[in-house]
Amino acid sequence: MSKALEGIKILDFTHVQSGPTCTQLLAWFGADVIKVERPGIGDATRGQLRDIPDVDSLYFTMLNHNKRSIELNTKDETGKEVLIRLIKTCDVLVENFAPGALDRMGFSWEKIKEINSRLILASIKGFGPGPYEDCKVYENIAQCAGGSASTTGMLEEVPLVTGAQIGDSGTGLHLAFGIVTALYHRVQSGKGQKVSVAMQDGVLNLCRVKLRDQQRLAAGPLEEYSQYGEGIPFGEATPRAGNDSGGGQPGRILKCLGWEKDPNAYTYFITQAAVWKNICDLIDRSEWKDDPEYATPKSRLPRLNEVFDAIEKWTMTKTKFEVMDICNQYGIPVGPILSLKELSEESSLRATGTVVEVKHPERGKYLSVGSPVKLSNSPVEVTRSPLLGEHTHEILHDVLSYSDKEILKIRDSGAVGEEKK
Ligand code: COA
Repeated sequence: MSKALEGIKILDFTHVQSGPTCTQLLAWFGADVIKVERPGIGDATRGQLRDIPDVDSLYFTMLNHNKRSIELNTKDETGKEVLIRLIKTCDVLVENFAPGALDRMGFSWEKIKEINSRLILASIKGFGPGPYEDCKVYENIAQCAGGSASTTGMLEEVPLVTGAQIGDSGTGLHLAFGIVTALYHRVQSGKGQKVSVAMQDGVLNLCRVKLRDQQRLAAGPLEEYSQYGEGIPFGEATPRAGNDSGGGQPGRILKCLGWEKDPNAYTYFITQAAVWKNICDLIDRSEWKDDPEYATPKSRLPRLNEVFDAIEKWTMTKTKFEVMDICNQYGIPVGPILSLKELSEESSLRATGTVVEVKHPERGKYLSVGSPVKLSNSPVEVTRSPLLGEHTHEILHDVLSYSDKEILKIRDSGAVGEEKK
């Protein structure tokens, strides 16, 4: 069975998290991803947050599956010649260097187009054109600059960043979508194009409903926010909404049995209007079913604290998994707060390949998140990340068709680092 992106060659100039997320997805779908790394140094994450001395970190291995690695100093004259051959051979160049780095290396978009007019140049930067375009950006900066932090956290407390890497991995996902779209466009046009995603834009895209609320504020208070029922006035900007649900169906995080000792003994509980009567039966408040003060979603909005207090009295008598089982019998949407420990042990996630065990020659077995996107005719097989420069010879010889004599010369120049034993 052939893979969806089989035959597509990616020149992967990415590092850290945002870019590698993107190229890993493309590799999972069958693209040949050639990771270009500085000789002897490589992607900085190889050495960051190491759990085993001198072995590629989990940070690196979990973001660079299914790729090949070539060591190449692209600031060296011989290295530049090799890079030109790579640009001629590949379909896509993906990079997330600091602004201007590719130009400084001597490879502007104009120059790249001259070398290969079919090549797609895909870039991640922190900001798009504007006052901050030259700034370096990491995950949490993007969350702050993209509207996520100002709308995350409890109302009167400091802004919060989320555990989900929406700035890095989120932007990588956006870029992968842009690349596949540009590849499709190339089928008709025969030409490459530049695909750019700014991390600020990627985060803002994921904060779309918060911009919705910003505009709704002009028409009056946001009645589904808890602060409305608590009589706290709204300011000029979309406020932090704690654990209120973003839609028109109020929801909160509630304690479950064992919450005093287990930091994750909680459930999310949504008081979906359609099942209000079921909720009343479950928590033994059948009198609320037809009481005009509680019976309609609108009438309940000023009483959300009272309603959720009553529901929580019930959830505190059950484990989060019992809440899940019972509520789903009545069509009530709830969700246990699952720890990463629980997720990594969940057999159904192992069965679907969403959590995978990978073997690495230096670190042994480790767990990773597999592809969350499943293609029925192009299933993903997660293979380990490459060692630094593991495929240098193979890429020079098989992909770029250099002769053994030419490879020796390239080696002697120092542009591709030491030969691996
Ligand atoms: N051969 C020779 N030089 C290489 C090379 C190679 N194979 N690969 C990288 N380099 C050089 C670059 O050309 C650059 O040189 P320059 O500063 O002289 O132009 C240098 O290495 C450092 O690259 P840079 O991207 O600037 O790394 P940094 O550590 O200074 O910054 C980031 C890291 C992430 C802050 C920055 O890359 C960035 O803002 N990227 C865009 C946003 C982004 O993706 N952020 C999220 C990361 S998860």
